[in-house]
Amino acid sequence: MSQKVTRRQFLNYSLMGVGSFMAAGMILPMGRMALDPLFQDDSEGSMITTSVTVDEITEEPMQVDFTFEQEDAWYTSEVTDFAWVYRDGNEIIAFSPVCKHLGCTVTWAADDNNPERFFCPCHNGLYEKNGENVPGTPPTGPLDQFEVGESDGFLTIGQVFPNELV
Ligand code: FES
Repeated sequence: MSQKVTRRQFLNYSLMGVGSFMAAGMILPMGRMALDPLFQDDSEGSMITTSVTVDEITEEPMQVDFTFEQEDAWYTSEVTDFAWVYRDGNEIIAFSPVCKHLGCTVTWAADDNNPERFFCPCHNGLYEKNGENVPGTPPTGPLDQFEVGESDGFLTIGQVFPNELV
């Protein structure tokens, strides 16, 4: 005994198949975007090796560039940033160059009247060498620090954290 598929049934099955396929095409990428960060392997560690050896670092703050990959959902881009780095005895100090007033970039010894301070040109912000904001200038807090380390003689830079020197 043969079962015949009517034209109506055939159209219903076809539409259901196409509809399911289209729904899966929309739902699967959304699910992947939502769940993907949960399955990222973060075990590599977050220290970035720079091209500066620790022997090159002196008591004079120097600009040290570093590059890292930044993932934004499914988009990965290469970002270049830098730190102000100097030696204080046996310790290496690295500051974020982001001004704590409105986020401009601070520079070491850029103001002729303050040759031993970090200077922010946007609103004449000043910071001491230890990152402390100079009272009477716009910044309301000290410069953040970067974690630092060493890998095969090269300086490594890690996460930003609140200034622990002041
Ligand atoms: S942003 Fe640096 S002083 Fe205003």
